[in-house]
Amino acid sequence: TVLVVDFGAQYAQLIARRVREARVYSEIVPSTTPVDEILARRPSAIILSGGPASVYAEDAPGMDPAIFEAGVPVLGLCYGFQLMAQALGGTVDNTGAREYGRTSLSVTRSGSTLFEGTPDRQQVWMSHGDACSAAPEGFAVTAATDTVPVAAFENDERRLYGVQHHPEVLHSTHGQQVLEHFLYRGAGISPTWTTGSIVEEQVAAIRAQVGSRRAICALSGGVDSAVAAALVNRAIGDQLTCVYVDHGLMRKGETEQVEKDFVAATGARLRLVDASERFLTALKGVSDPEQKRKIIGREFIRVFEQAQAELIAEAGAAGEDVAFLVQGTLYPDVVESGGGTGTANIKSHHNVGGLPEDIEFELVEPLRQLFKDEVRMVGQELGLPDEIVQRQPFPGPGLGIRIVGEVTRERLDLLREADAIVREELTAAGLDREIWQCPVVLLADVRSVGVQGDGRTYGHPVVLRPVTSEDAMTADWSRLPYDLLARISTRITNEVPDVNRVILDVTSKPPGTIEWE
Ligand code: XMP
Repeated sequence: TVLVVDFGAQYAQLIARRVREARVYSEIVPSTTPVDEILARRPSAIILSGGPASVYAEDAPGMDPAIFEAGVPVLGLCYGFQLMAQALGGTVDNTGAREYGRTSLSVTRSGSTLFEGTPDRQQVWMSHGDACSAAPEGFAVTAATDTVPVAAFENDERRLYGVQHHPEVLHSTHGQQVLEHFLYRGAGISPTWTTGSIVEEQVAAIRAQVGSRRAICALSGGVDSAVAAALVNRAIGDQLTCVYVDHGLMRKGETEQVEKDFVAATGARLRLVDASERFLTALKGVSDPEQKRKIIGREFIRVFEQAQAELIAEAGAAGEDVAFLVQGTLYPDVVESGGGTGTANIKSHHNVGGLPEDIEFELVEPLRQLFKDEVRMVGQELGLPDEIVQRQPFPGPGLGIRIVGEVTRERLDLLREADAIVREELTAAGLDREIWQCPVVLLADVRSVGVQGDGRTYGHPVVLRPVTSEDAMTADWSRLPYDLLARISTRITNEVPDVNRVILDVTSKPPGTIEWE
C-alpha cells in the first residue's frame, strides 16, 4: 500500500486516484496521524500531499522528520516538498514570490529518476507562495522554473524525492509519468492492482466475512448498489437476496433494467417489491420538496423492513442467519466521514434516504476501498451491461422531486415520457459521457398557454437541466447544440400530451442546484 498523507488540500484524493491509475493500491491518511502509526502499516511508499498552508504559518501542519529516516521511499509534492526540504536541512524562503497555474518547468539534470524520458521543458501546474532555494545536503536538484531555482530534487540512495508542482493534476502534462517513475523506479513497486485482482481480493474477503450465513442487499438501480450486489453475488451466490423496491418514481424502463439486465448478467436472486401504490398514497397532497423526500425515505425503509422480515420468516430456522446487509459505500464516503478503520464510525450511506439506524445487521461494504471510476471498471469486469455501469446519477427520491407540485400517477406518466425522449436524443447525439446528468422537470403547478392544431391549450412546461460536472458539488449548464434542443422540443410537445412548452435552464451551480427541488 502507498499511503498518501493529506495536508488538507483537495489534492489527496486525486493523488490516490492517480497512484491507482498506475495500478498501485493507495490509501489516504490525515497528516495528524502519528508517524509510528503510519509506519506500522508497512507502506511500500509514502506521498506527502500539497496543502493550503505556508510552512511558516504558526499553525502549519508539520511532519515528524522520523518519516524520512525509516527507509521507506517518500515523495513530497508542493507543500509536502517544502516540508521535506525544511526537515532535511534545505532552505525554504518566505519570499512572497508566487507561482500559480500553468508554469514551464526545466529539467536541469539528465538521468533523473523522476523525469527520465520526459521533455527538458514541460508544462506543470504550480500553486505555492514559499519556494525552496537550496536543496538539503546529499540531494540533487533536478528541475527549476524561471522563479524557483529548486523545483525538484532527489536522493536515490535514501529513496527520497520531491517536486514543487502538482503532478496529479492533468495540466501537468507529464505528471502521471513522474508519479509512475517514483512508484516503479524510485520505490521499486510493481503495478499489480488491477480490476481482476480487486474482484479476486473482494470475493475472498466477502466469503471470509459471511461464511455460510446469508446477506441481503437493497438495489436502488444505481451503479454502486448494482456493483456491490454483483460482487457479493459472485462471492456467495444464493446466500444473497437482492431486494428492489419499486416506488413508482423510476424512469421509463429502469425497473425492467434491474429486473432483467441485472439478473441476466449476474444470476442474482432478486425480490421485486411493487410498492408504487403505497408511495403514491403517502405522497398525496404533498408538494413541499423536503417533505416529499422524508416521506419517500420513510416509506422506503418500511417496505424494505417488511421484505426483510418476510425473508427471515421464509428462511425458517435458518432465519437468524440473515445477518448481513450489503451497502455500496465508496472510498470518498469513507475518507469524508473521517477515514478510520472498522465500520462503526462510518455513516451508513444509501441513496434512498438512509436505512434505519437500529438495524441489527453487520455491514458488507465491498466498495469501501474504491473510487467511482474503479467501481465502474469492477462492474464491467463482472459482466454488468453498460446501461447499468455507465449510468448517470439519479436521485433516490426519483421523479418524485422532479415534479414541482403534487406527485400523481398522471404527472409521473407525462414526465416519464418527456424524460425518455430527452435521454434517447442525448444518447443518439453521443453526449452521454459528456453530460453529467440531465434532469427533466415538470412544472406541474404552472399552466402555460399554447396553440396546438386549431385550438388554445393550457398545458404545462417542462424544464431541461443538462449539466456538466466533476463531482456534483459544482456544475455548469451544458451548451447543447441548438438543433438537438430543437429536436427535443419538437418531439416533447408533439408526443407528450399536456406539455406545450420546453424550457432550458441556463443556471450554473452555484447558485442553482442541479435538481429543482
Ligand atoms: P443538487 O440538486 O443538490 O444535486 O445540486 C447534487 C446531486 O445529488 C443528486 N440528488 C440526490 N440524490 N437523494 C439522492 O440520492 C436526493 O434526495 C438527492 N437530491 C439531489 C442530484 O441528482 C445530483 O446528482
